[in-house]
Amino acid sequence: MFHDRIRLASLASKIMTADQAGEFFQDGMTVGMSGFTRAGDSKAMPVALAARAAKSPFAINLLTGASLGNDSDGLMASAGVLARRSPFQVDPLMRKKINAGELMFCDYHLSQPAEMLRAKKGLPIDIAVIEAVAITECGAIVPSTSVGNSASFVAQAKMVVVELNLSMPLELEGMHDIYLPGDRPGRQPIAITDVSQRIGSTSIAVDPDRIVGIVITDAPDSPSTALPPDEETNAIAAHVVRFLAGEVTAGRLTNELLPLQVGIGTIANAVTYGIAQSEFKNLTMYSEVLQDSAVSLLDSGHLKFASASSVTLSAPTMQKFLENLDRYRQQVVLRPQEISNHPEIVRRLGVIAINAALEFDIYGNVNSTHVGGTHMMNGIGGSGDFARNAHLSIFVTKSLAKGGDISRVVPMVSHVDHCEHDVDVLVTECGFADLRGLAPRERATAIIANCVHADYQPAMASYFERACQRGGHTPHLLEEAFSWHLDFRQNGSMKDRAEAMV
Ligand code: COA
Repeated sequence: MFHDRIRLASLASKIMTADQAGEFFQDGMTVGMSGFTRAGDSKAMPVALAARAAKSPFAINLLTGASLGNDSDGLMASAGVLARRSPFQVDPLMRKKINAGELMFCDYHLSQPAEMLRAKKGLPIDIAVIEAVAITECGAIVPSTSVGNSASFVAQAKMVVVELNLSMPLELEGMHDIYLPGDRPGRQPIAITDVSQRIGSTSIAVDPDRIVGIVITDAPDSPSTALPPDEETNAIAAHVVRFLAGEVTAGRLTNELLPLQVGIGTIANAVTYGIAQSEFKNLTMYSEVLQDSAVSLLDSGHLKFASASSVTLSAPTMQKFLENLDRYRQQVVLRPQEISNHPEIVRRLGVIAINAALEFDIYGNVNSTHVGGTHMMNGIGGSGDFARNAHLSIFVTKSLAKGGDISRVVPMVSHVDHCEHDVDVLVTECGFADLRGLAPRERATAIIANCVHADYQPAMASYFERACQRGGHTPHLLEEAFSWHLDFRQNGSMKDRAEAMV
């Protein structure tokens, strides 16, 4: 049975149900599961673990690549299976548990967990659960639509459970490039000097004796939740294109730009579509996730090659992708997230990083994670890996949220994920502020003029003017800096104070 997918005959005896594999999991264990922004995640084990916990409570510490699909994070969080979770999630139920203090969530730059595991800084992995399309003749695991941290989990785990997903085409084999940096001291440079370069193997090596169970599944990945572009996201995309076109005119970039990294979500997707309608050509991507827009750029010929750690697509685009793998395999490589996000490579390639913000302030500090400074949204993801090391670090957001009750440009952000030193350009649907080479007072002037919504502009200008009268390199009125956030918390809107401050 499954000869083409389990090519090491002795492993066929390890086939079992998810419930049987669930018996390997003990209270207090640390588990590393495949899955990166809904792609290539374990489909069966989260369900089996939640069911087992309903009968006899137990809790594990769970690491993944990034977010899981299939509502798995919510299911496990609700069943009380998780004591700790890292490094990223997007699930509303899990978010509730995290913000109630019931689930300990450790939010890391996505390039870092693998390094932490290698350095034995965190809890060692007891069990790795990896979705695969096949197991090779030597027992190596061929991942599916993501690589994430899977290779690092397998390298360390005492036991490995493989979820063999029959709905994932065998033609995915060959798309992956598995490479893990060596130990320190004495580590060699990571020899990627071009986005299309392959430096590793196409499968994850493992001693077959450590594979304790093979669970057969056939569920597809959960489709992407990115919404189609709207008027505001199209305006943001147009400003990004205008900024990049200016860089070409100034001779700082060519029409091929430099490798693009584009973050998750609706705005990021819209920006990529915007680039597809521009003069730029022969583009490349060195990103962590490929969304629908990247596939569309590959199809239109705008994009030559894309390197990422996962493909997270809508259902129709995923179908097209999986049905044409022979073609896409020539233009796409999937790498461990440690490599897709590695500072050394991001800096060497000169990546243009475009990520989304929850809010930013008049000096260019960006909050990507904490609503109102306290409540976790998703996590920092890979945005920091790219922003600090990019050739150009661009952050995009709509200028308003909650029907205009929130200005997403504020006097002082309530939490800092990306400090002013890591931010080159800020973009809203109102325009863009190019902050390169500007001192704080100049940055504030550019941001207020170009990024703040007209409704909030007078109040923001008044804040800045009064702060400047008080003096300082980065002028602030500390007693007033968070008053916009307080207004939203206390009255459900920033509008009144904003108007009163005029
Ligand atoms: N205060 C309070 N709520 C806010 C807010 C603010 N300043 N800004 C946005 N919100 C709310 C929105 O109203 C929306 O709520 P709703 O779902 O109830 O309508 C929600 O937060 C999400 O806002 P939206 O603008 O739709 O966000 P997005 O989909 O563009 O995502 C981030 C923005 C920052 C949350 C997302 O990009 C993220 O998680 N980034 C961190 C990870 C990352 O950057 N990875 C990149 C590498 S792939």
